[in-house]
Amino acid sequence: MGSQPTDTKRRYEYELGHTDRELRRLATQAALVEPFTRSYLQRAGVSQGMRVLDVGSGAGDVAFLAADLVGPAGEVVGTDRSPTAVVAATARAKEHLLSNVGFVEGDPAKLTFDVPFDAIVGRYVLMFSPDPVEMLRGMTRHLRPGGVIVFHEVDWTGAGSFPPAPTYDRCFRYIVETFHKVGTNPYMGLRLHAAFIEAGLPAPTMAVSALAGGGSDGLSGIDLISDLAVTMAPVMEQTGVINALDLQPESLQERIREEATTNGSVVVGRYEVGAWARLTGSSPARQ
Ligand SMILES: C[S@@+](CC[C@H](N)C(=O)[O-])C[C@H]1O[C@@H](n2cnc3c(N)ncnc32)[C@H](O)[C@@H]1O
Repeated sequence: MGSQPTDTKRRYEYELGHTDRELRRLATQAALVEPFTRSYLQRAGVSQGMRVLDVGSGAGDVAFLAADLVGPAGEVVGTDRSPTAVVAATARAKEHLLSNVGFVEGDPAKLTFDVPFDAIVGRYVLMFSPDPVEMLRGMTRHLRPGGVIVFHEVDWTGAGSFPPAPTYDRCFRYIVETFHKVGTNPYMGLRLHAAFIEAGLPAPTMAVSALAGGGSDGLSGIDLISDLAVTMAPVMEQTGVINALDLQPESLQERIREEATTNGSVVVGRYEVGAWARLTGSSPARQ
């Protein structure tokens, strides 16, 4: 079971950044994990005609997914505190001719909106917050009574390879160690249950999924982990976790695939955790 970061102070505003490469990585990652997020949103009750707030929208993929679920009669507002992300997501919405999605810059826990939302959704965002409970409390102000809140966060507790592919195992250990060093919680997924309750929300319904497969499997998530390690390599070096060159980023993915194939390993990705709850009119979160 994972532990909490020992130093919860954030040393990086957001260690993954918003370079073109990172925005592309988010979109590639989104395609792999989309079925999990779609299932969590649907099971939470996100459906036709709803007005949805997407928290930490990045390149916009969760907002686009929500837009598909709410249809033309619904509306999605994506939020991100990074102006670069908002510009990129807005451009992609235009490219895909999506007229029911818009993006605004800011932290939704602090923003104000004229009309309350029927649903609040978010993926891979609470893990970066120094106080996810406070963030949940802040955003819940925008939810109407009876509205739903659903988060998809990762938890690295279960990641590993069986039998071991040592380069893969080292790679995800470096990622987890770097997250700890910068104050990001790699175990936010399984922490969602307590965070909802502490924020005054009902205890959530939860589900866990994971990508898994062999070295030759394109959907095994090897690309996802190796891409993330390459993105994080400069921060790994700055925080003293590893010399970025030792990671040999340009051949990392290929080496993991070869090793997993040679060793007959099944590579299991991080847990993709969903948690959702429906607000009651009398929930303390609204008082
Ligand atoms: C890992 S990305 C995930 C993007 C998107 N949700 C997805 O799953 O593809 C996290 C995003 O959350 C944004 N973010 C982090 N903390 C935030 C906050 N407190 N308010 C608004 N955006 C935030 C970051 O700027 C970044 O774009």
